[in-house]
Amino acid sequence: MDRPALVQLKDVTKIYRMGDVELVALRGVSLEIAQGEFTAIMGASGSGKSTLMNLLGCLDRPTAGSYLLEGQDISVLSNDQLASLRNQTLGFVFQSFNLLSRTSALENVELPLLYSGVPAAERHQRARESLVRVGLGDRLHHHPNQMSGGQQQRVAIARALVNRPRVILADEPTGNLDSRTSVDVMALFQALGRTGITVLLVTHEPDIAAYATRVVTMRDGLIRSDQRQAQKAAVPLPDGTEAHP
Ligand SMILES: Nc1ncnc2c1ncn2[C@@H]1O[C@H](COP(=O)(O)OP(=O)(O)O)[C@@H](O)[C@H]1O
Ligand SMILES: [Mg+2]
Repeated sequence: MDRPALVQLKDVTKIYRMGDVELVALRGVSLEIAQGEFTAIMGASGSGKSTLMNLLGCLDRPTAGSYLLEGQDISVLSNDQLASLRNQTLGFVFQSFNLLSRTSALENVELPLLYSGVPAAERHQRARESLVRVGLGDRLHHHPNQMSGGQQQRVAIARALVNRPRVILADEPTGNLDSRTSVDVMALFQALGRTGITVLLVTHEPDIAAYATRVVTMRDGLIRSDQRQAQKAAVPLPDGTEAHP
């Protein structure tokens, strides 16, 4: 028999409680994602995309329903166990890059390894490898403010990769990038997908979702459609063509 799906959500609901007010953000979401799939999650603002990503990323827990990640029921894990699962299995990329501005690319990428207690020499080595992997081997000592938006997002992707995650979760990763640079970042995600990394990406842009192998569309806290598609090939920028600020 095949291995279980990487992600198995069953009848997941999420209710936010603020005082007496309850807001139902997810109303019963079931979703299976296989290893290596590149899934775009679309939907209008407020439809529950970020809530779903936070659950998938083990940053939050469902109110009801179950979530198995690599066959592991996350509801039985303590917060510490959840943190270590996040650290070992998942890599996060954000719209606003979330880099430390007065710190080199190398040090930014090393940070997750510092948290997981990796010794210094191995930290440097792995951070360097990760930056080479995203095409920034010649920018190791640049600070974020010396890099273009696309380069900063690639540093953030290198940081997400440094713990050798099996899943990358990216919430609107191209939201602050121009369209050409966005395609370049998508080319990078596609390259990661070809190495077996599972990519989960939130976007509200159909042009960006076209680069995924599957598009899940949310509406009012439910999955409205879920379609596999032929992936549009993203053509990476030739080295050095991206505008510098
Ligand atoms: N921490 C929170 N507390 C209360 N309500 C929230 C919280 N996060 C999101 N919501 C609400 O849940 C719904 C879904 O939000 P969200 O998942 O952020 O949607 P999207 O990312 O698709 O814009 C929205 O109505 C939003 O206002
Ligand atoms: Mg959102």
